[in-house]
Amino acid sequence: MNNLVKPWQRFMPSRTVLIMGLLLYFVGLMAFAMNHKTELKKELPPHVVIRKDSVASVKAFTAVYKVLMSPRCMNCHPQGDIPLQGDDSHLHTMFPKRGLEGKGVLAMKCANCHQPTNTPGLNTPPGNPNWHLPPADMKMVFQGKTPRQLAKQLVDPQLNGHKDMQKLVEHADDGLVKAGWNPGEGRSLPPMSHAEFKKAWITWLSTGAYAPKK
Ligand code: HEC
Ligand code: HEC
Repeated sequence: MNNLVKPWQRFMPSRTVLIMGLLLYFVGLMAFAMNHKTELKKELPPHVVIRKDSVASVKAFTAVYKVLMSPRCMNCHPQGDIPLQGDDSHLHTMFPKRGLEGKGVLAMKCANCHQPTNTPGLNTPPGNPNWHLPPADMKMVFQGKTPRQLAKQLVDPQLNGHKDMQKLVEHADDGLVKAGWNPGEGRSLPPMSHAEFKKAWITWLSTGAYAPKK
């Protein structure tokens, strides 16, 4: 009677196999969790420490402003709902529209022409997997803004895509920001290196994000 294997027991793994399996599962889980944690740590910049200094802050923003208003950045931060093109920031030919999410409308989606990487050659679409304008409900306009207006807008979470200080610092390494320094053939670069821009950006924020007088 004792040796009789009940039908359902035939499908059950033995106790050893079961325990081994569970052990492996937890070891795996722990390895994943630890790996994940160190990865997150590596990505985050050191916590932003604010040391207020209005003079240093305004000076740093002067450099930041020059980059923001350069065609490589402003062309995606236009006043209207049509992106801009070229070093003279003219309206984008064929007038693709922003659309609710900034990705274009109907048959004129940005990604139809803008590939994940730059298309080789002159006057071809620059590429990025995430190429789009800011969304219709938060347009993040740079074009036409004075340094004072833009400085205030950039740190206002209701206008900047709900970014806090940490998120703003991190945005210096955003894919679309970096795309400005890989603009495709025939386009000018922003007026300073990405490293210089990032330094000015973080200095401006960490000294109190003061807005210039005008
Ligand atoms: C029908 C194809 C097409 C569509 C759709 C399109 N683009 Fe373009 N885009 C181009 C081409 C081609 C260029 C390069 C033009 C040139 O350099 O003369 C360009 C250039 C640009 C530039 C200029 C980049 C720079 O650094 O000066 C921006 C910004 C841009 N597009 C944004 C967008 C956005 C945002 C969308 C969607 C709302 C979009 N485009 C949809 C073809 C397209
Ligand atoms: C292909 C279009 C595109 C280009 C080119 C581009 N941006 Fe943007 N930018 C966006 C989009 C879309 C958002 C909104 C996404 C987000 O908030 O994360 C944004 C958001 C921002 C923000 C946050 C807005 C705020 O008020 O704080 C900053 C800062 C910014 N961009 C700076 C730049 C700089 C600097 C460059 C040039 C070196 C640049 N962008 C080039 C599309 C672009």
